[in-house]
Amino acid sequence: MLIQSATIGQAPISTGLLTAAERFGVLPMPNLAWTPEVERETAHLYERVKSVIPSVEWPFHAPYVKAINDLKKERNAVILAHNYQTPEIYNCVADVVGDSLQLAKLAASSTADILIQGGVHFMAETSKLLSPEKTVLIPDSKAGCSLAESITGADVRLLRQRYPGVPVVAYVNTSAEVKAEVDICCTSSNALQVVESLGSDRVIFLPDQYLAKNVQAQTKVKIIAWHGACEVHERFTAADLLRYRADDPSVQIIAHPECPPEVVAVADFAGSTAAMIDFVKTKKPRRVVLVTECSMADNVAAESDGTTEFLRPCNLCPHMKRITLPKILDSLVYLREEVMIDPALAVRARASVQRMIDLR
Ligand code: 13P
Ligand code: SF4
Repeated sequence: MLIQSATIGQAPISTGLLTAAERFGVLPMPNLAWTPEVERETAHLYERVKSVIPSVEWPFHAPYVKAINDLKKERNAVILAHNYQTPEIYNCVADVVGDSLQLAKLAASSTADILIQGGVHFMAETSKLLSPEKTVLIPDSKAGCSLAESITGADVRLLRQRYPGVPVVAYVNTSAEVKAEVDICCTSSNALQVVESLGSDRVIFLPDQYLAKNVQAQTKVKIIAWHGACEVHERFTAADLLRYRADDPSVQIIAHPECPPEVVAVADFAGSTAAMIDFVKTKKPRRVVLVTECSMADNVAAESDGTTEFLRPCNLCPHMKRITLPKILDSLVYLREEVMIDPALAVRARASVQRMIDLR
């Protein structure tokens, strides 16, 4: 039987395979009432988020939190939550949290049958690349990324024609279709190492123009950059950050390297979302400015022992915010939306990710 089930980006493809719902079966939707039992069973989870979620909001979240945690066990599913997921997802239903690559690597070592990606589509694809035998679901396949959407596989082929023989590095914030066309992937924490590992005096780096410039500032390799940008991080300005510094010269400013170079230049530290969290946890600064997406400061603040004051010149990622508790519950009940990648394309895309992993 030929079934229309899968998506690469937003385009449906015919897989000839059974859908996840046909393989595992649909379950009844749990009761979502706020009851004394729900209150009792979720009280320990509310403790984790009470500094960032007002008590009047908890009765709306708690029934979903309980239903999701119960269904995860029944389905042998794990929820992978990126650091930008909202506090009720990150702290109350996630099994694995981290930056985009950590999530995919940890997922690959899990024994779960089903992975539910709390994050954006390219992250779900990376999970599928590293766990091809598992069912990978994304609660909303429209959760995109301005970087991933700025370039296609055909664009990479044109770049190769224009710059014959120049190796191509793709940031993990790209589609599987793009990963399949490049030589190696990188993350924001290993971009410099990857660029310098290629032994070439020129490297094509895509799709983030700002990450490319931030790497260029640290290497003699000539970087040919694509013109993509993260719509969240490109909005921060050096002037905003200098105002924080003027108010308190001892404040620690930490920025994601998707920010423009003049913003990174003002920061005390720049690194992936996981590296930013490590910085706060290990250095325990008295006051810190987190120059990144809004929910991350909430999540780090919820876990903090109170020694650090968080200042948040925050920009929301609208794509990350498409993932909600009700949609995660729908994924567990109806087993949608399944991430499928054409097997031949997946072999080539996986090789680009694996080459990066093997560098470590
Ligand atoms: P990280 O890999 O640092 O988590 O970044 C992903 C991302 O989308 C940042 O905007
Ligand atoms: Fe993409 Fe930026 Fe959102 Fe990260 S924060 S998912 S890079 S749009």
